[in-house]
Amino acid sequence: MNYVKASELKDFLGQEVELKGWVANFRSSGKIWFIELRDGFGFVQVVIDAGKVDKESLAICEKLTLESSMVVAGLVAKHPKLEQYELHATKLGLVNQAVDYPIGKKEHGPDFLLDNRHLWLRSSRQWAIQRVRNTIINATYEYLNKAGFIKMDAPILTPTSCEGTTELFQIDYFGEPAYLTQSGQLYLEAGIAAWARVFDFGPVFRAEKSKTRRHLTEFWMMDAESAWVDHEGNMKIQAELITYIVQKVLTDNLPELKILERDLTILERVKPPFYRLTHAEVVQKLRERGSDIGELDDLGGDDETLLTELYDKPIFVEKYPASVKAFYMKRDPADETRALNSDLLAPEGYGEIIGGSQREDDYHTLLQRMKEQNMPIEPFQWYLDLRKYGSVPHSGFGYGLERIVAWICGLKHIRESIPFPRLINRLRP
Ligand code: 4AD
Ligand code: MG
Repeated sequence: MNYVKASELKDFLGQEVELKGWVANFRSSGKIWFIELRDGFGFVQVVIDAGKVDKESLAICEKLTLESSMVVAGLVAKHPKLEQYELHATKLGLVNQAVDYPIGKKEHGPDFLLDNRHLWLRSSRQWAIQRVRNTIINATYEYLNKAGFIKMDAPILTPTSCEGTTELFQIDYFGEPAYLTQSGQLYLEAGIAAWARVFDFGPVFRAEKSKTRRHLTEFWMMDAESAWVDHEGNMKIQAELITYIVQKVLTDNLPELKILERDLTILERVKPPFYRLTHAEVVQKLRERGSDIGELDDLGGDDETLLTELYDKPIFVEKYPASVKAFYMKRDPADETRALNSDLLAPEGYGEIIGGSQREDDYHTLLQRMKEQNMPIEPFQWYLDLRKYGSVPHSGFGYGLERIVAWICGLKHIRESIPFPRLINRLRP
């Protein structure tokens, strides 16, 4: 018999096929059972009419339990009302009888669900989120490859910090301290002189004591770095990438977005040009909305929420005070107190999804900055070298995958955006 996927049923109308999956839900009325079978590829309604199956199949129906695994043979039919295909069972085979599945129909608290993350992943919302995540990952590769970037994997074990020492996870590397990477950026800057455009995509780590709906301690970052690209060009690449990703999700994941009850009109609007404000303009807007943010303050999570609630498209906030940004950012020649940087904020209250900047490419200026910030010079000598041997103007950015997933899927909390979230208070399962 033909073993088919839920997503292929429409190609087998009227034929007898076999589905393999798990009982996501079931009900019965008299001598008819309805099983919502989840096979990994989708959800299918299986209709079992007592008069049309054998005794063994009926016995299975009599003791149905949530999340039992089974093989079902049946005829593919069109749902009488909905645009859906269902299976009219001819035979059921039980593979494993599940007992007392802990996640039920009733509302569960977030801690209970996170303790049972290994099982929670099966529920339809979680199924949909991870499929959207997969599309976002693939769309990123597609866009970057088309734009001439090659993937250059940066190391995870590093001797120094990229984004600041307070957020480092330290480990013992054969007797000397080492750190889990916060971003592959500095290594990518070495790569541009070899390949001009490079990106990495992997797990990064932040020992941030932030307990918010936006922070994970382990998350996936995609850093991209380009030679001969300035601050303007850097924002252009980001806008194109985000547009490509969102359009791809809209093309490939409509059923998933429907499960997530996502408002599509906002996603459909994601096309360049994005909104663009300077940090100074943002401070003014925030103060009008009641924030007490200082002129030279970084935007906090609450500020980003307050600001982005006003917008229906992503917003670039550029030219932050250099004092709140990383040492490697080039300064704005028109105002040396400002960095030639941008954060891309997602609308609807989501906030920062990308951080990027033009990089300081002058040896002496960079050395000076590092000294001002009391950074150790010797461990960064290789990074300074890049400014000695054919330094060129260059820029780059890094996106947080889970922040993008949370926004596109419309999630309230980042913890659902990654299969096994690592939070300040959660390392298990
Ligand atoms: O803004 P960040 O810290 O920038 C960098 O690390 C640069 N070196 C990137 C570069 O220029 N190549 O982090 C980049 C992005 C943020 O915009 C945010 O989306 C995400 O990473 N991010 C986090 N996501 C989840 N949990 C956290 N704790 C995050 N911290 C940053
Ligand atoms: Mg940032």
